[in-house]
Amino acid sequence: MGRPPRAAIVGAGHTRFGALPEGPRRLVRDAVDQAVASVDRGVDRESIQELFLSTLGFSGWQLGNAASIAAEEAGRPGLPAVRVENACASGGFALRLAVDAVASGRQDLVLVVGLEKMTDVPHPRRRYWLGVSGDTEWERLAGLTFAGVYGLMAARYAAEYGPVREALSEVAVKNHAHGVLNPNAHFQKAVTREQVSAGPPVAAPLGLYDCCPVSDGAAALLVARPDVARRFTDSPVYIVGSGAGSDHLAVQERSSLTRIDASRAAAEEAFRGAPFDRKRVDLLEVHDCFTIAELLALEDLGFSPRGGAGKLTLSGATRLGGRLPVNPDGGLKAKGHPIGATGVSQAYEVFLQLRGQAGARQVGDAQRALTHNVGGSGATAAVHLFSGG
Ligand code: COA
Repeated sequence: MGRPPRAAIVGAGHTRFGALPEGPRRLVRDAVDQAVASVDRGVDRESIQELFLSTLGFSGWQLGNAASIAAEEAGRPGLPAVRVENACASGGFALRLAVDAVASGRQDLVLVVGLEKMTDVPHPRRRYWLGVSGDTEWERLAGLTFAGVYGLMAARYAAEYGPVREALSEVAVKNHAHGVLNPNAHFQKAVTREQVSAGPPVAAPLGLYDCCPVSDGAAALLVARPDVARRFTDSPVYIVGSGAGSDHLAVQERSSLTRIDASRAAAEEAFRGAPFDRKRVDLLEVHDCFTIAELLALEDLGFSPRGGAGKLTLSGATRLGGRLPVNPDGGLKAKGHPIGATGVSQAYEVFLQLRGQAGARQVGDAQRALTHNVGGSGATAAVHLFSGG
């Protein structure tokens, strides 16, 4: 049977992802307005009791206390509000705190907002933000970027398990194909394996099409206590598992370059006592910041044996229509990766999928899903499990 649900998503909103003209305040406002409008039985903003804002840099001009700005834009100045920062996993951790807020009984209804505005931040500052989200002493100051770290992981993976280029390319081809079906995606353009493999080099063996882009965007979730969820909607999406993990910040301290142990720990915790096991999961939203990351995720989360994720991917199992669709919204690769918005956006996709509202990218009659959100090169990770109402 497993434990009862810990929380329920009753509304969700999402802006487009991409190089957008809107400023960060506007992106927050649009995502929250959509989330409020999506609550089918209606919600009074006055009943929102707390706000969790996930952002790395809030556009670079408001590094401190940005949560209060999000409360203003949500139409609730004065709301208890906190900014959550765990690099690219900020959204997953903000959701985890929201789950705890309602599961503990402290609140009935809370708001999670994920935001990043990256494209108009000057390059050196953006590089600095991303750089200080990895290890500063041994990596950033030596010139290693995130693409560089994941390039090392891909090279090591190939050394341990054999050629991986085709599988990496297939991850990009699949996620771009899914992105074509998502009107909010940064890239809505299909690519071929040949184009991906011949893409301009970024950090060997990774090229342009192995990388997520730099994106702007926001997403928002209304998270309720399960026993009050039906006040807001007949079809809540329940959160039935929440797990988190961390690891050494510097990759040189980790036990392996071909595993992200924080992901493994987060999945173990999420599945402990959950009402279903891995075999019953209908779709995954995993953190594919670089194509190699999707292969590692399938293995770290326990959906593939070690070294087997390439074969699984090349079999077509992870495509829409396959046995286990992965990243039906296009993933970070094609949907885009506005850092603080990503973990919230993954839950938004699951909210649509488990209510049968994902349109052209709907995964059949999906009932159970998993989201996986990684901080930087794997120093932090959060995993959530969801089931439809
Ligand atoms: N995938 C596919 N195409 C991409 C792309 C990507 N990731 N990034 C940019 N492009 C395309 C652009 O659309 C543009 O196409 P166009 O000429 O047809 O308009 C072209 O490539 C050049 O875009 P530009 O923005 O000048 O690219 P860039 O060289 O400045 O940046 C990367 C490319 C890969 C370096 C950049 O996207 C990047 O740094 N990504 C990783 C971000 C990151 O590390 N996030 C944290 C993860 S842990």
